[in-house]
Amino acid sequence: MNTLEAIATRCSTRRFANRSVEQEKLDAIVTAAGQAPSGGNFRGCHLVVIRDAKVLNHLAEIATECFAEMTYDENTYQSKKNSINLSRKGLYEFYYHAPVLIVVADQKSHPNAMADSACALENMMLAANELDLGSCWINQMHWLEEDARLRDYLEQFGITKEETITGSLAVGYADREDGLPNRKPFAKAPLRVDYVG
Ligand SMILES: Cc1cc2nc3c(=O)[nH]c(=O)nc-3n(C[C@H](O)[C@H](O)[C@H](O)COP(=O)(O)O)c2cc1C
Repeated sequence: MNTLEAIATRCSTRRFANRSVEQEKLDAIVTAAGQAPSGGNFRGCHLVVIRDAKVLNHLAEIATECFAEMTYDENTYQSKKNSINLSRKGLYEFYYHAPVLIVVADQKSHPNAMADSACALENMMLAANELDLGSCWINQMHWLEEDARLRDYLEQFGITKEETITGSLAVGYADREDGLPNRKPFAKAPLRVDYVG
């Protein structure tokens, strides 16, 4: 698969097989994150690769608890509203039972923290596709990053007070007959592109 194919066939995976991911594949994915560009070559991205099912379940419990307590109005971002509504019903599953969740953080003081993390996340998603793994960007850790329950829990895995949690990535084999991620993207409207010259 060349780069353009990896880009064109990457789709979010939200159903994962109960199958662990080989260490070599995870190594390749985190290496891809490290090869992403970063503003001023700051290279402040910090990845926490969570494979422990108990930890993943506890993160899901914390997320459900936090979202269930939130309120929303008509201006609230739709995805956040969905998270709140599902959490209130006890039906919220933010990481889709993926066997791996890679939490991404960067220094709060770094003005390009989010942009650098997005580059690292995209590199990881493309690498996962190349390696026949599904992935999905999971934003909840970022939304909840100020919550003391989440902060205190993630601190024991190395996330520091100086870091902002920018996002996370669910990774694993897709729960499909052939075990491969869906590579047929839905039709996307083209972006507005203006050429000058
Ligand atoms: C910044 C960002 C945040 C996202 N957060 C979530 C999320 O929390 N949960 C989720 O299921 N998908 C999330 N996604 C995935 C998008 O929903 C998905 O990329 C979009 O619907 C297009 O589908 P595709 O990835 O299959 O092309 C996120 C994507 C981005 C770029």
